[in-house]
Amino acid sequence: MRARVIAVANQKGGVGKTVTSINLASCLAARGRRVLLLDLDPQGHCGVGLGIDTETLTRTTYDLLVDRTATVHALAITLPWPALSTLRFIPANLQLSLAERELEKRYALPNLALAAKLKVVRDDFDDVIIDCPPALSKLTLNAFLACDSVVIPVGVGFFSIHGVRMLAETLKDIFEETGLDYDIRCLITRYRTGQTVSREVRKAADELFGDYCFATVIRECVDVEKSIGSQTPLAVWAPQSQAAQDYRALSAELVDQLAKKVLRDSSPPVPITVPTTTTAKKSDSEAGHGA
Ligand SMILES: Nc1ncnc2c1ncn2[C@@H]1O[C@H](COP(=O)(O)OP(=O)(O)O)[C@@H](O)[C@H]1O
Ligand SMILES: [Mg+2]
Repeated sequence: MRARVIAVANQKGGVGKTVTSINLASCLAARGRRVLLLDLDPQGHCGVGLGIDTETLTRTTYDLLVDRTATVHALAITLPWPALSTLRFIPANLQLSLAERELEKRYALPNLALAAKLKVVRDDFDDVIIDCPPALSKLTLNAFLACDSVVIPVGVGFFSIHGVRMLAETLKDIFEETGLDYDIRCLITRYRTGQTVSREVRKAADELFGDYCFATVIRECVDVEKSIGSQTPLAVWAPQSQAAQDYRALSAELVDQLAKKVLRDSSPPVPITVPTTTTAKKSDSEAGHGA
């Protein structure tokens, strides 16, 4: 089976990209799936959340991108938790901020460097999760051109939907220009039941993404911060916590939804019609995501 490559992206910081990447990857691995988690953010927060001293690392995502001979298997590390024995991780650190310049120097097609490295290991994993930086940078573009799906975490807040609409537009342009099939899904994070702004963000996201908004929402939960502090994924640190339950539900929904999709390489390009307003008709969003 070929891996599904999922980019977790949003140019806004603090929306739960890293928390989602770590916990989605670990919940998928806890189900026995072979998962590769790749940190594409020079801040290296995935590694920090997984108990790794990222500053002293010498082999990171930077090498994967910049060194033509470096492979996923040579760089991916295992993690100390037996329940996550099928999880592999490639960490990042600040050196990754130099990668964009190096990619330009070394490759004729610098935006396809990551796609090329992942293509050759697609049979070795079930899921590849890419934690993107909080910017629409060339690193993020590498992730978009390597992935089958983009998951956009939307943190609850007044500015959050505005930024997501812009990101959806950018993705639409990218995929139109490349002719690639794509699948963009929205995930509400930091949801507070009973809070007005939470309800409003959820309603706006439903209108914008239609069926491509995950039914699972990730609730605001103190155990998220605590598990990051203890540098252990929720599935291990607090498997019964609300947040662990939410990420387990997300992993189940994702597996179920993506199982219904045809992989990009075997499907023809489709018209792209990401709705641009919150009042977009449901039929627009249904038609636009190339099932
Ligand atoms: N569901 C949640 N409940 C409580 N805190 C959360 C939740 N999701 C994320 N956070 C907190 O929000 C902060 C930002 O999350 P992070 O995943 O690092 O965002 P990003 O990667 O988008 O910048 C972190 O301190 C994290 O602990
Ligand atoms: Mg992050």
